[in-house]
Amino acid sequence: KHIKIALIPGDGIGPEVVAEGVNVLKAIEQLDSDISFTFTEFPWGCEYYLEHGNMMDDDGIDRLREFDAIYLGAVGYPGVPDHISLWDLLLRIRKAFDQYVNLRPVSLLDPSLTPLKSKSEKNIDMLVIRENSEGEYAGAGDWLFKGKPEEVVLQTGVFSRKGTERIIRYAYEEARRSNRTLTSISKGNALNYSMVFWDQVFEEVGKDYPDVTTYSYLVDAASLYFVTHPERFEVVVTSNLFGDIMTDLGAGITGGLGLATGANINPEKTYPSMFEPVHGSAPDIAGKGVANPIAAIWSVSQMLDFFGEEKWGKAVLDTIKSMIGETANLTPDLGGKASTSEVGNRFVEKLTEK
Ligand code: NAI
Ligand code: MG
Repeated sequence: KHIKIALIPGDGIGPEVVAEGVNVLKAIEQLDSDISFTFTEFPWGCEYYLEHGNMMDDDGIDRLREFDAIYLGAVGYPGVPDHISLWDLLLRIRKAFDQYVNLRPVSLLDPSLTPLKSKSEKNIDMLVIRENSEGEYAGAGDWLFKGKPEEVVLQTGVFSRKGTERIIRYAYEEARRSNRTLTSISKGNALNYSMVFWDQVFEEVGKDYPDVTTYSYLVDAASLYFVTHPERFEVVVTSNLFGDIMTDLGAGITGGLGLATGANINPEKTYPSMFEPVHGSAPDIAGKGVANPIAAIWSVSQMLDFFGEEKWGKAVLDTIKSMIGETANLTPDLGGKASTSEVGNRFVEKLTEK
């Protein structure tokens, strides 16, 4: 199997962590003669913007189209407004390639990683499925009477029948396939159009899945339960904004952003899917060589799963788990003293030993 990968290392710690993920893929290539990868790097990001006035080339989307996967570090850096770096690169790619599923595992790899105290709380193993193409991040809105006393801004959520059904159906399929419960997180009491509709679609689609046990929580209550009873959640489906926020909360209870990953999936494989750590460019630690590369390496595991190489996806995840016990060999965010590349090298060593 051959996988053509476009690399967008991006800004800040992005290039630092992507380099380690690429090393893991190269190691797998060495270990398994049936798999090969090609890497094509694109220099896009904030530095590129400051030089060219553009986060990516005008024909960037067309150039990415020929790849199987995009492996991204992070974009965003002081000096370029965050809404520009986000909309002109990351969201542009997610939308152009209809990557409407954002798969974010919230999984506690080791009990030592959670700040939560009680025992039951340590049983955290969920898959958050976030709507990734519309909703609150549809980009619809207006800015009226700018700067005037009557100034008004509108930010409109867009929930289409097609967009809502397909993500909810995807989540039911995943719950059925993995024999887990499915929880919908919404806010039908306050958002009296969009979330009432979401709840209705969740119920309607559920008629096709009588075998799947479902729960439905308001997002505020769900935030509480993520902390007090995270073991209640297995497969979770939620909207773009709520999924964004709830998965950072998820990262907070499972070891932090240095371990959180997210795959932007086009399930039909009509277009490339994109794999990236959840974290941003971390300007506060960029260039210091202390960024945790494990989130980016976990993205590699998701990539391998997506392309049907589950054996390797699992091997990567198992190796991550086995590393968590070796605190000294981890980066400072996990209490260790190792550098980004030391973690990456140790990882490859362990993967190769297996
Ligand atoms: P951030 O995720 O970059 O950093 C938040 C905190 O977590 C910082 O203290 C950082 O040092 C720490 N952290 C993040 N990743 C880490 C890692 N791998 N190892 C160790 N510590 C890590 O979020 P922030 O500061 O809100 O945003 C910084 C920039 O990144 C902004 O320009 C923002 O727009 C952008 N951003 C980009 C994303 C993307 O490209 N997908 C996602 C989130 C933010
Ligand atoms: Mg986020």
